[in-house]
Amino acid sequence: MGALLMIFRSRTGQSRIFKGVLSGLLLTVFLPILPSLALAQEQQEIVCIQCHSGLEEKYSQPVKLWRSSIHAVNGIACNACHGGDPKDMANAMNPARGFLGVPGEKDIPAFCGRCHVGVTKDYLSSAHGLALGKGGPTCVTCHGSHLVRKVSLELISEKYCTQCHNFERAKLIKDAMLETELLIVAIDGRIEGFKNQGTDTGKLEQSLFAVRNRFHTLFHDVDVEKVKKESTQINGELKKIDNVLQGLDDARRKRKIAGACAVAGALLAGLLFHLLRKTYA
Ligand code: HEC
Ligand code: HEC
Ligand code: HEC
Ligand code: HEC
Ligand code: HEC
Repeated sequence: MGALLMIFRSRTGQSRIFKGVLSGLLLTVFLPILPSLALAQEQQEIVCIQCHSGLEEKYSQPVKLWRSSIHAVNGIACNACHGGDPKDMANAMNPARGFLGVPGEKDIPAFCGRCHVGVTKDYLSSAHGLALGKGGPTCVTCHGSHLVRKVSLELISEKYCTQCHNFERAKLIKDAMLETELLIVAIDGRIEGFKNQGTDTGKLEQSLFAVRNRFHTLFHDVDVEKVKKESTQINGELKKIDNVLQGLDDARRKRKIAGACAVAGALLAGLLFHLLRKTYA
């Protein structure tokens, strides 16, 4: 029985070593191949990138720019915007496969608006949208076409907004939005703080998410009065979230005081006990 156990032990030991050597071998052989395998798969998936990467600057530049965009991060590739067949090298840009080509200036809002429906509706009825084709900006004027990034109020800048008119009215909108933006950032930070300490902040996060979304739909009307009015309302809702956070702060402070009192009480009791023992001993 003992011998059998010995053999069994040494066998498992051997097989463990064998497995270690085998997996080591497999890793050294396959690891360098893995990334290129993944890459090959990605390129196979989309022929647009495969072919365009090797074309002259004008046609390869979009690939380079797109790679750093928020669209790339969210899986919105060439064909999501331009149409076409991303799997068929020979017919990729065939209109019969839905290829749309490059939109003319006037068609850009509808081009982006297939996905950004609400924004495009606001834009079209705004002073900017009404000036479409007559010197007004399109989506691409402010966001670019391939290097589209996550937005912030930094987009409202002298650089972007003074191409066609002075910065005064742009600044009015920015100022009206800035206070709310800063409030949102501050509240977001405080919720994060409570979350890290283990407080259940699900409801607060949901409320902030809804308010923030509403706030970020304000811009495209470029209507200063509307922005001012809505921002005031939104600030009111943020104040409510802030009050809940204040309540959590207070509760935490009370808990701390109660804790300190308990410790002080225990110390005092200990001291009394000690003194009593001394006097009666
Ligand atoms: C086999 C190579 C190849 C593939 C695959 C390919 N393209 Fe192209 N593409 C080209 C060449 C070459 C041009 C420039 C000449 C032309 O317009 O035909 C071009 C031009 C374009 C243009 C500009 C057209 C214009 O009117 O200026 C767009 C947009 C475009 N491609 C998008 C795509 C998309 C989206 C895909 C994938 C669904 C794709 N391409 C797949 C080679 C390719
Ligand atoms: C978010 C939508 C979007 C995506 C994604 C996108 N494009 Fe474009 N692309 C546009 C728009 C809009 C234009 C027109 C640009 C303009 O008028 O400034 C354009 C223009 C082009 C042009 C013409 C450039 C020129 O100078 O004539 C080519 C080529 C092109 N895109 C290729 C691609 C390729 C390849 C990809 C994938 C890597 C891609 N695009 C991804 C929106 C997009
Ligand atoms: C005059 C410049 C300008 C034009 C034109 C413009 N945008 Fe914007 N866009 C902005 C600015 C500035 C913000 C950021 C507003 C904020 O932080 O609340 C923004 C925010 C956004 C957002 C994120 C906010 C949201 O509600 O989801 C999207 C998406 C967007 N724009 C798409 C578009 C599309 C699509 C078009 C064309 C129909 C367009 N934009 C036209 C400047 C512009
Ligand atoms: C096929 C759908 C689709 C098309 C077409 C499209 N987008 Fe997007 N866009 C998305 C998705 C998905 C996201 C990432 C999720 C989000 O933020 O809404 C995004 C994000 C954005 C953002 C960042 C929003 C933010 O929250 O910061 C901007 C700005 C934007 N797109 C502008 C454009 C412009 C300009 C065009 C046209 C040239 C365009 N998009 C075309 C799907 C699309
Ligand atoms: C490509 C040109 C162009 C760019 C770039 C541009 N605008 Fe405008 N803007 C116009 C035109 C055209 C009008 C409408 C005619 C007018 O009032 O002058 C306008 C009007 C406005 C108005 C007044 C709206 C109203 O109802 O009275 C505001 C506010 C405004 N723009 C803000 C901005 C901001 C903010 C930016 C930068 C993010 C910007 N614009 C970038 C062309 C532009």
